[in-house]
Amino acid sequence: MSDTAKLQVPGKDVEYPILSGSVGPDVIDIRKLYGQTGKFTYDPGFTSTASCESGLTYIDGDEGILLHRGYPIGQLAEHSSFMEVSYLLLNGELPNQDELTAFENTITRHTMLHEQLATFYRGFRRDAHPMAVMCGVAGALSAFYHDSTDITDPKQRMIASHRLIAKMPTIAAMAYKYSVGQPFLYPDNKLSYTGNFLRMTFGVPAEEYVVNPVIEKAMDRIFILHADHEQNASTSTVRLAGSSGANPFACIAAGIACLWGPAHGGANEAALNMLREIGRPERIPEYIARAKDKNDPFRLMGFGHRVYKNYDPRATVMQKTVREVFDALKVNDPVFEVALQLEEMALNDPYFIEKKLFPNVDFYSGVILSAIGFPTTMFTALFALARTVGWVAQWNEMISDPEQKIGRPRQLYTGPVQRDYVPVEKR
Ligand code: ACO
Repeated sequence: MSDTAKLQVPGKDVEYPILSGSVGPDVIDIRKLYGQTGKFTYDPGFTSTASCESGLTYIDGDEGILLHRGYPIGQLAEHSSFMEVSYLLLNGELPNQDELTAFENTITRHTMLHEQLATFYRGFRRDAHPMAVMCGVAGALSAFYHDSTDITDPKQRMIASHRLIAKMPTIAAMAYKYSVGQPFLYPDNKLSYTGNFLRMTFGVPAEEYVVNPVIEKAMDRIFILHADHEQNASTSTVRLAGSSGANPFACIAAGIACLWGPAHGGANEAALNMLREIGRPERIPEYIARAKDKNDPFRLMGFGHRVYKNYDPRATVMQKTVREVFDALKVNDPVFEVALQLEEMALNDPYFIEKKLFPNVDFYSGVILSAIGFPTTMFTALFALARTVGWVAQWNEMISDPEQKIGRPRQLYTGPVQRDYVPVEKR
């Protein structure tokens, strides 16, 4: 018999099972709470709530650990490729060479978009934010693929997943091309997933595009670092949207919408803008003081995390990657120096120590992406591209879970109690 948690509510004592996962905190199974007591739990922002069972990603925020299917993110970033990690997340195990080749071929064969979608792009303003375009185009895919929308069929779910992983680089690159007024480039099947994305983004039809292997490797690593992150806001959004049985392409559009916010995926854009605004190391103390001032809404962007109360392990890899990219491109951007010194000062400041605020993945990613040549507005679009694999893997896991139910939180109602309608002339 496993442990139980006892709860006393007025007039009643109730007991709930405590469930253990393979590692990490136990959970109290309160599914019968409302039925037995007529009461709900209250947990805005889900700070103490596990919304599902999952075998994909494990985070220990206190220790700064991130595992995908058990493998530490540092090892995956160092030794594997984004395609391998995508296979791992979708299928549960690392692929052998044949499986990897077959997976890469499948993804490569799905990279083209329906030609009609190019027309869809032309409906956007040229200055539309790439995330607005990504959200719209990913949602629009739901109108194109009727053969992969019976979500009860695992094969169709896998086809939809492959399509989403494969088409997202094309969608993101086209969003970029549209914003700069250059022609769209079709995918090139000779190139790797990441090399192909770089060519579709930075190549032009008039010239041959040669992929820089250091940039290709760095970009692939950035994709690995963003592939999945447990039940974060956008993943929970995809799960919630998908829990009603909605079309998978529309669910991913919902995830993109959620990711866009500056408290989530939009933070890398905000972090680089902040570093550029600071501009010189001498100005760092002023910004640290503002971040600490309760009356100033300013926060150090790229710092702090809901789950990590230690150095985000992805930020460690990012910091190393900045150096590699800067060396390869012979970049000498003062923003990196500002970032390094800001990090050091914040990590030695009692405010940040006491609140356990450390750099997160977004602190350095903007610096690298900017050096590669992406405008800040593309940063979150790249995050969405990489996170798509996490979203589809989590969506698949949810749909195949026999315990799956439509997500339907409750509330603590504080509005007016019942009252009678008053005709307009009497108000
Ligand atoms: N700068 C200054 N103070 C901060 C910061 C920061 N970046 N982050 C948190 N704090 C302070 C808060 O003011 C709060 O102080 P208080 O307890 O005195 O009120 C305390 O630390 C706790 O902060 P919360 O906002 O309650 O923590 P929460 O878990 O809700 O927020 C979040 C986490 C949203 C990431 C927050 O740290 C933040 O806004 N960071 C900046 C944005 C950012 O970098 N987001 C990227 C997240 S990673 C990702 O999405 C991939």
